[in-house]
Amino acid sequence: MDNVFIMDHPLIQHKISILRNKETGTNEFRKLIEEIAVLMGFEALRDLPLEDVEVETPIETCRTPMISGKKLAVVPVLRAGLGMVNGITTLVPSAKIGHIGLYRDPVTHEPHEYYCKLPDPIDQRLIVMVDPMLATGGSAISAVNFIKQHGGKSIKCMFVIAAPEGLKRLHEVHPDVQIYVGHLDRELNDRAYICPGLGDAGDRIFGTK
Ligand code: PRP
Ligand code: URA
Repeated sequence: MDNVFIMDHPLIQHKISILRNKETGTNEFRKLIEEIAVLMGFEALRDLPLEDVEVETPIETCRTPMISGKKLAVVPVLRAGLGMVNGITTLVPSAKIGHIGLYRDPVTHEPHEYYCKLPDPIDQRLIVMVDPMLATGGSAISAVNFIKQHGGKSIKCMFVIAAPEGLKRLHEVHPDVQIYVGHLDRELNDRAYICPGLGDAGDRIFGTK
């Protein structure tokens, strides 16, 4: 699939396996989500545009590449996406941060919006939307809809784990969006949880139940 990138780095796979373990506690889970966001961000940002700038080294003046254009915006989908923000800002400390608040109805699994605040202007920025889980795809599709309604044009989405159903749906609705996935899991169960998955990412990051 064009614009879909499934990670194969051994460090990402190793860390995801620890996340899956139900004995992994909140503290370690949070740290791992952040580390995986760094590793995935490193891959997802390898096409950032560069421009040569003049720099005076202790030896001589030279032209040397630096990231060009408007700074990027990282947009976590609340709550669980918050766990990935520091991973991206570790790589790009000047990134602006937007927030989209969505929760899945436990019965219908449909996303409900409760918050949306995005950096302005958004149309010239690369937007990196982050959420650990892509299950039915409903939340991600709504989040990308919001970003586009606000004028966002260049969008990358990062998910630690995706279900085939959600990946297909998101890609069909938003084929222009680049999708980065840490691991593509087997399927959704009848409660729309990813199998084998890691359970409820938000609850595991924040220690709620
Ligand atoms: C989780 C997850 C995604 C969504 C994925 O959030 O972080 O946002 O579910 O499911 P979908 O692809 O079927 O829409 P949740 O609604 O549990 O909210 P939370 O992050 O506040 O726990
Ligand atoms: N949201 C989660 O946090 N986990 C799932 O498996 C599906 C949706």
